[in-house]
Parts: sequence; structure tokens; C-alpha cells
Amino acid sequence: MKRVAILISGGGSNMVRLVETMQAEGYAAPVLVASNDPAAGGLAKARALGVAAAAVDHRAFGKDRAAFEAALLEPLLAAEPDILCLAGFMRVLTPDFVRRFEGRMLNIHPSLLPKYPGLHTHARAIAAGDAEAGCTVHEVTAELDAGPILGQGRVPIEPGDDADRLAARVLNVEHRLYPAVLRRYAAGDRTPVLL
Ligand code: GAR
Repeated sequence: MKRVAILISGGGSNMVRLVETMQAEGYAAPVLVASNDPAAGGLAKARALGVAAAAVDHRAFGKDRAAFEAALLEPLLAAEPDILCLAGFMRVLTPDFVRRFEGRMLNIHPSLLPKYPGLHTHARAIAAGDAEAGCTVHEVTAELDAGPILGQGRVPIEPGDDADRLAARVLNVEHRLYPAVLRRYAAGDRTPVLL
């Protein structure tokens, strides 16, 4: 069975959905949750689900991304993951790190890529007057938020939406999309999931 490690930075609601569906259905095995922030709420949630959790504080390494990533790689490589999922992981990874997991690293991004890579996606979609928003799961390549798309979920933007209200609607779809993509990906199927 494919071994899956998950990187988070915060509350980890996508991570919880990935772990719960893997545990319920057995389509893959969650072997490690790691965070760049020791205060990330998702670490305790992972442990409560019986998954090993590790924190490597990026602030301890200043601007030295390579040193941070070397430290992050220690628990990660020890867990021997086949697939690495970024789930609300808010650090940009260096091309060296990405190369190491090329073809087996996924990310979820809260926009309909290629629209709105980067931050503040919901505010940008509302400001642009878009009729819909959504989320994308894609393979991670060295270029930010630009790898091959493996699935997208769409929601309408409603009158009176602000970024928080839209984010909550999109997050609901993220929770269905990411497990659906990982389920296929772990079985070697890269057909995009469309929700
Ligand atoms: C999610 O909306 C995810 O798409 C986004 O952060 C949130 C994490 O929520 N990711 C990014 O913005 C990546 N650039 P979670 O910690 O509850 O899963």
C-alpha cells in the first residue's frame, strides 16, 4: 500500500479529511504529518488520529531555506513516503526539494488554477467580478502553483460574498476533492477529478 506523508502549516482540516478517508477506506496509509510551525493545530489532530506528527520550525533557520528543508527531510525520509501531500503548507519549497519528490508530490490550492496562483485567492476572485471560484489539486513542480492539474472543484460566488464566506464554501469542496484525487493518484490514475 502507498505510504503518504502530509505537510501542513495550520489547522489541518484537509489533512484530517485525507487521514480519515485513508483510514476508513484503506486506499493508502498515512505515515507522517509534519509542520513548519510547532503551534499548528493540525499536529495534535494527527496524533489523535494515531498518525505520527513532527514539527520543524522554519523560524529557527532564518532565511536559509536549504537548511530548513534539510531538517524537514529528516523525519520525512525516515517515514519513507511514496506520496507527499501539501495541505495548507504555506512555505515555498526550493527546486531541490521539489526534485526529490517529483512526480509524487501533490498540493491543494484555493483557486481555479491557472487563475490566482499565490495568496489572497478569494479576495482576488471577488474583486475581479468572477461568477465562480474553487480549488485545484495539482502535482507540485518547481514553478509555484503551476504543475499538472489532477482535479478541480467549483462553487458559485454569491452576492454579498466576502473572502471569508467564499473561503468557507470552497473549503467544503476541498474536503471532498483532495481525498477523491488522492484515492485515484494512489492507484496510479491521473485522470482529473471534476467536482
Ligand atoms: C486551504 O484552503 C488550502 O487550500 C490553502 O490553505 C488552507 C488550509 O486549510 N492552501 C494554500 O493557500 C496554499 N497556498 P487547512 O489547514 O484547514 O487544510
